[in-house]
Amino acid sequence: MTTIDRNELKKLQRREESRFAADHPRSAALYKQAQESLLGGVPMNWMKKWAGAFPIFVQHAKGAHFTDVDGCEYVDLCLGDTGAMTGHSPDVVAEAVARRVREGITLMLPTEDALWVGEDLKRRFGLTYWQFTLTATDANRFSIRIAREITQRPKILVLHYCYHGTVDESFASLRDGVVGPRRGNIGPPANPAETTRVVEFNDLNALEDALKHHDVACVLAEPAMTNVGIVLPEDGYWKSAQELCRRYGSLLIADETHTICAGPGGCTAEWKLEPDMLVFGKAIGSGIPGATYGCSEEVAQRIAGRIHLEDCDVGGIGGTLAGNALSLAAMRATLEHVLTCANFQKMIPLAKRFNAGVAEHIRANGLPWNVIQLGARAEYTFAAKPPRNGGESAAAADFDLERFLHLYALNRGVLLTPFHNMALMCPDTSEADVDLHTKIFGEAARELTC
Ligand SMILES: Cc1ncc(COP(=O)(O)O)c(C=O)c1O
Repeated sequence: MTTIDRNELKKLQRREESRFAADHPRSAALYKQAQESLLGGVPMNWMKKWAGAFPIFVQHAKGAHFTDVDGCEYVDLCLGDTGAMTGHSPDVVAEAVARRVREGITLMLPTEDALWVGEDLKRRFGLTYWQFTLTATDANRFSIRIAREITQRPKILVLHYCYHGTVDESFASLRDGVVGPRRGNIGPPANPAETTRVVEFNDLNALEDALKHHDVACVLAEPAMTNVGIVLPEDGYWKSAQELCRRYGSLLIADETHTICAGPGGCTAEWKLEPDMLVFGKAIGSGIPGATYGCSEEVAQRIAGRIHLEDCDVGGIGGTLAGNALSLAAMRATLEHVLTCANFQKMIPLAKRFNAGVAEHIRANGLPWNVIQLGARAEYTFAAKPPRNGGESAAAADFDLERFLHLYALNRGVLLTPFHNMALMCPDTSEADVDLHTKIFGEAARELTC
């Protein structure tokens, strides 16, 4: 097995940083100007985390490609961290959205699109009733509220190193087996130990021990972890986990916001899971803000008796723009024409091709890394074997190496997801796009190991 020479890595990083700065003068100038009006020079704080000294500013994006303000063109394998898994601005969605923009954007009243979308979601995921929010974070927050209300239990349970958006309760992690705020947690409203139990993925004993307290309203989990690299469930994990949830009276909420990459009905349909509630955001409207949460007949009955007409607008589940006509028009067009079986049949083989190419270069260069695929998504990890849980996957993270590989790819026209090594395929991604990444990855691997 090859080890990386850290001094060499530093040298290579400096070289790539110089190249990046030389290639992006206009982005550099805009970033400098932005320091005067945007906090940290960016519209959202995590945009500072891109691998170069400044983020590249985008001119336009279409399908699997985009162009920056310096005229550089890119293959986009980040796809807005799944928000643009549909490809950027699919024509059919752009047209539906443009139509709706002219006919009323938000009214606090339903449009027929909501019914179409609800019926489609019911078919895809098998859950009966649906509600809409603007973000997956909100969909998770409202699902948690419902679970707490109907179980009358205070806590939720999440997996170690999960990510479910900016849901306060989910910014919890384990340190020496004890729950506390996750590193970087900004101004936590309460110590998450008061609100949250945390267990490692694929550990049924730990799950049962946590549920045995009978204080867990719901388990909120991605069917496969995707935010700390990809971590797949072991055979039979979800079947047993579902049984444990039922036995101890906790609801299971499947957050399919990323795992929708597994197929049109996400992992829930692919793996025949039976969650009580399900969340799906980001790509549902091709990036037009919108998300959804669904629930079973039983959950619907249990909550119905607890929401009173007079108070239903002040119960903590809401949002003036939630369920607006524009979001629903975008969702309908996306579900009807873009996130279709036919398109998944194009996207999934591309992720397989990505995997095979990367795996071959890992092998050829003797690197102790591996690459994992989940439907249309693939990700490489700096561990010799696929991690079994969030803790193992986080332990394999290598910030310097990751930044180098990201910048190396960016300098050669490929954008990866910034916070780990994820690549996502959209219906417009081509084999040539994938092969470009494979070639670049191979060159980077050779430079790192020679
Ligand atoms: C699995 C999962 N759920 C929910 C969210 C939150 O999505 P949003 O930031 O759009 O609210 C994310 C964001 O990355 C996510 O990865």
